[in-house]
Amino acid sequence: MEHIARDEAFALLKKYNKDPFHIQHALTVEAVMKWYAKELGYGDDAEYWGIVGLLHDIDFELYPEEHCLKAPELLREAGVGEDIIHAVVSHGYGITVGCGATIETAPEHEMEKVLFAADELTGLIWAAALMRPSKSTKDMELKSLKKKYKSKGFAAGCSREVIQRGADQLGWDLAKLLTMTLQAMAESEDEIQKEMDAEEA
Ligand SMILES: [Fe+2]
Repeated sequence: MEHIARDEAFALLKKYNKDPFHIQHALTVEAVMKWYAKELGYGDDAEYWGIVGLLHDIDFELYPEEHCLKAPELLREAGVGEDIIHAVVSHGYGITVGCGATIETAPEHEMEKVLFAADELTGLIWAAALMRPSKSTKDMELKSLKKKYKSKGFAAGCSREVIQRGADQLGWDLAKLLTMTLQAMAESEDEIQKEMDAEEA
């Protein structure tokens, strides 16, 4: 199947997202998705998994109240395939967005389940990284991440219910999801930083 090229996907993301925090989140989820594709035996599709990660929050900056509802329109207009659109929408499965609608498109493919599980968790892990003297995931221990995860007051916006549901959908225990996602982020951090620096230059 022909897919949107990575460069085109990145340009499309930047058409609707200007906030560096959002660009960094998209690059992070892209890198984590690529890491998981390789780890789970989908190495040939790593770029494809990454593109889905890159585009998953495309509508969030401009249409936060219609998150996951506006995305199909933006993506279709740009010629993005229905398979990617399905994956993007399914990362909101069961979540009620600001306008009051609940997303009913469920993740089906393993790629979609990984996106659902890892997206919310990358937010929590990055928040934990920023609290560290190093401001990095690279020296973060699983034990400290687990502690942050259990602390209700920490990064309260990152829904533990969504993360747990993500692990359940994959048939993984929470520890496996935390371990793998932390490793994915630690291994990708330098590359993401390089891309962010290139954007700012
Ligand atoms: Fe996201």
